[in-house]
Amino acid sequence: MTKETIIIFDTTLRDGEQSPGATLNCSEKLLIARQLFTLGVDVCEAGFPIASQGDFDSVKKIADTVGISDIERPNGPMCICALARTHKKDILLAYEAIKNAKRKRIHTFLATSDIHLKYKLNITRDECLDKIHNMVSYAYSLCEDIEFSPEDACRTDLDFLVKCVQVAIDAGATTINIPDTVGYITPNEMFNIIEHLIKNVNNSEKVIWSTHCHNDLGLATANTLSGISAGARQVEVTMNGIGERAGNTSLEEIVMTLYTRPKIYNVTTNINTTEIIKTSRMVSSLTGMIIQPNKAIVGINAFSHEAGIHQHGVIKHERTYEIISPHTVGLNTNNIVLGKHSGKHAFKKKIVELGYTDIDNKSLIRIVTNLKNLADKKKCITDHDIEALVVNNINNI
Ligand code: KIV
Ligand code: ZN
Repeated sequence: MTKETIIIFDTTLRDGEQSPGATLNCSEKLLIARQLFTLGVDVCEAGFPIASQGDFDSVKKIADTVGISDIERPNGPMCICALARTHKKDILLAYEAIKNAKRKRIHTFLATSDIHLKYKLNITRDECLDKIHNMVSYAYSLCEDIEFSPEDACRTDLDFLVKCVQVAIDAGATTINIPDTVGYITPNEMFNIIEHLIKNVNNSEKVIWSTHCHNDLGLATANTLSGISAGARQVEVTMNGIGERAGNTSLEEIVMTLYTRPKIYNVTTNINTTEIIKTSRMVSSLTGMIIQPNKAIVGINAFSHEAGIHQHGVIKHERTYEIISPHTVGLNTNNIVLGKHSGKHAFKKKIVELGYTDIDNKSLIRIVTNLKNLADKKKCITDHDIEALVVNNINNI
């Protein structure tokens, strides 16, 4: 039986950047977008163009460069997505930012839970349905790939949620995303919501169902996997799980669970898993969001064995205590150790291996000079030393 593919929708540059203190400039966003392309991400939510001129410029730059890349990938060009509220000016600006990309998507959202309708939006349920109809239709008049998210879906009355997504589909939405905006839901409930919607919405088989989970109770990965079991075929994730408050579902946890337990989920992804560590470290360096040492898959301790019994077992056979080979996620496959005796070429090679492929020559020379100076003082140069210098030295990419 052929496996279905789960669409990996990465929102590191949008919801991930909403992590307190994680602001990225345009050059940094472009570096990350290029690495997400190499990683094999299907859809990159590049930002929220109405939020600021900087956000508009970054989304446009990503669409105009990574979005038109000629580099071949098994899943073709990366779709560049921009977020918009259900306002005409948001939607138009989102479209303006992404219009040059080979594949593009407008993602529009409106809260649907009673608490949001009453206290945040001050509109009735009927007014909510009208807005969804009008703005999804408008977005569809500009772009054929439209995603609609009923914000706070998981706390929305289920019968009303069915009506909201029905209106969105009838108006042209091609992906329906179900956000657990406040990270409140549990895995069984997520399964039931997705299953109920797929069963009760007309033409549900014509759209892609998606989940978008927040990690306030530490359940984002479990809830996303439940959504997949119920029929979701897109997952919204961020690298290292960064995002608003306690973060979003982490890309690496979902991808590696599907990879490690194929018989349980029977689906696959387009992610090149050997790029995971590189991407994770780049996102951490550029956002300044430190990865907790025991973080699944990408934490510094994720593949270290301290206890003597474990070390002994792993030396005899890796699989005794390792469910994933470190090489699968791209963990230090090379053994170049950089120090004061290393040449310029070795440093340059290492910078490229860390994913920084498009640094202008002037910056590159400066970084290498600084690295050589550092190597005079320090015995061994670590990947973190290199990344810190790269981050401090990039001008224009
Ligand atoms: O968490 C949320 O509800 C969102 C939406 C904009 C999809 O991020
Ligand atoms: Zn979110």
